[in-house]
Amino acid sequence: MSNSEGNKLWGGRFVGDTDVIMEKFNASIAYDQRIWDADIRGSKAYVKALEKAQLVTTEEMNGILQGMDQISEEWSKGMFVIKPGDEDIHTANERRLKELIGEPAGKLHTGRSRNDQVVTDMRLWLRDAISTVKDDALQLISTMVERAAAEIDVLFPGYTHMQRAQPIRWSHWILSHAVALSRDVDQLQEVRRRVNVLPLGSGAIAGTPFNIDRELLRKELAFDDISINSMDATGQRDFVVEFMFWTSLCVTHLSKMAEDLMLYSTKEFSFLTLSDAYSTGSSLMPQKKNADSLELIRSKAGRVFGRCAGFMMTLKGLPSTYNKDLQEDKEAMFDCFDTIHAVLQVTTGVMSTLKINQSVMEAALSPDMLATDLAYYLVRKGMPFREAHGVSGKAVFLAESRNIALNQLSVEDLATLSPLFESDVSSVWDYLSSVEQYSAPGGTAKSSVAAQVEHLRNWLKKQK
Ligand code: ARG
Repeated sequence: MSNSEGNKLWGGRFVGDTDVIMEKFNASIAYDQRIWDADIRGSKAYVKALEKAQLVTTEEMNGILQGMDQISEEWSKGMFVIKPGDEDIHTANERRLKELIGEPAGKLHTGRSRNDQVVTDMRLWLRDAISTVKDDALQLISTMVERAAAEIDVLFPGYTHMQRAQPIRWSHWILSHAVALSRDVDQLQEVRRRVNVLPLGSGAIAGTPFNIDRELLRKELAFDDISINSMDATGQRDFVVEFMFWTSLCVTHLSKMAEDLMLYSTKEFSFLTLSDAYSTGSSLMPQKKNADSLELIRSKAGRVFGRCAGFMMTLKGLPSTYNKDLQEDKEAMFDCFDTIHAVLQVTTGVMSTLKINQSVMEAALSPDMLATDLAYYLVRKGMPFREAHGVSGKAVFLAESRNIALNQLSVEDLATLSPLFESDVSSVWDYLSSVEQYSAPGGTAKSSVAAQVEHLRNWLKKQK
């Protein structure tokens, strides 16, 4: 039983029909139609190489080019009709070409295989997808950098192990995430370099026996390089995996940032308020405003990582060159792209619309967070750090045992712990002067944070 009427491109050596269930199982058209444009671009370039090799006449080439343009128009207007037997985007476009221009359509596939065709299409599509994702990431980084510049004066508690650690600038926190994202963009450029290699002209496995000018193909399709080995070119999907590694790392960075923001937006912290545009309510509890945007950003890390790991399982132990297992590459790649494209845009929305509660942030600073600075006070008076750490720890203990804040210990109290304490110790109990000490490059002093802003602004300019 079949509904494909025996008109398959590979039908010659087959006697019976494909079982309907097998036909459906085998087909990738439901999802690979997404690469229709890349497929047409690839074919248009290929027919030019065929003409140069005198495998089609100039007239035939022009017919094929025009036919391809019409198919392109049909796809872009949503008017392309997928027919039973259209196994994948490659067969669908070729079937349509034959309907439009007749016999010369049959020459288009000369020396070409779907094995080099599909991987050419994938690379073209992914190259464009990478540009889109790069723009998304740059938009987010720029939003974060400008927010950091505008709110550079806001201080709040910095945490390690989720315990109060030291006072820092809110902008320092923002930039800590922006810097990680800038590395993601740098790495994405590297991925693009390896994606942007022409496989066309590799045939099914052995290469091409015709005079196909691969340099012409490279130029037509704006690839940077030509694949070196036809078996590698048709059988490898490492460029897809690399993109998925990249996506996994980028969304991991974003999930970490989302987690902090979620915590800061709780009633208990109240450091910031998410815009209603990026929050949702509860169907049961009227008072609730949930940070669903952030929770979903966090969740997508699992999804993307799963896609990446799943496809690597498919690849593991495959024999050389093309095997149908490789058809699994597309849904994994599309899903990673769709996910990171959405996540980056939503994160930009969240970051550009949230409101910080500066007074709450600053009120959350507490004198115990200056215990390190108290030790540094002693270090500046000549005490070795290890010893100073111990003295400051004793001061913390003393204050705790008296149930008072660290800065409420008198100079006399402190002098019982070390004779180096003098009345100038009062200068330690100032959050702003605390952060201003951290002025080495990378630190949280205003000058250091401003330098980070400048660094990222310059970096952003170079990315355009
Ligand atoms: N739909 C196929 C894929 O996505 C195209 C390549 C098919 N090649 C083959 N020899 N059957 O991988």
